Amino acid sequence: MATDAVTLIMNDHRIMEQLFDRLRAGAGDRQLLLDEIAARLTAHSHAEEQRVYPSLPAEMAHHGADEHHEAERMLHDLQRMGPDDESFSTRLDDFIATVGHHIEDEETSVLPALRDAVDPARLVELGAAFEQVRLEELAVAGISVS
Ligand SMILES: [Fe+2]
Ligand SMILES: [Fe+2]
Repeated sequence: MATDAVTLIMNDHRIMEQLFDRLRAGAGDRQLLLDEIAARLTAHSHAEEQRVYPSLPAEMAHHGADEHHEAERMLHDLQRMGPDDESFSTRLDDFIATVGHHIEDEETSVLPALRDAVDPARLVELGAAFEQVRLEELAVAGISVS
């Protein structure tokens, strides 16, 4: 069933928050979780930048992309840390807070602006375009999603 871009983006935010919770709780293999988060974060960010942000005011799109890049840098640093590094949990909290801020910004400001900018039919088209890029990137990364 076709779903609009706002719903699809918010659903994917919830998936990432669940992965953050598992990582924070120390559940599962840390490196595997980081790899999955990296793949999902990158796929989500690229799909937004390529297919959704172009419908937004340029300044808002640039701000969003800057925040994506900051999150990717922080996550990359976490992936490179050894399992015994004592600063891991502090830096994990920083990363989660940074992404949490970005998600809140999107859900309270960016996505409402998108709803105002395009009509409902276009919002469904953007949803399909977002999913196409996201799922292609996840497939390349070897993450299977239903
Ligand atoms: Fe997002
Ligand atoms: Fe985003």
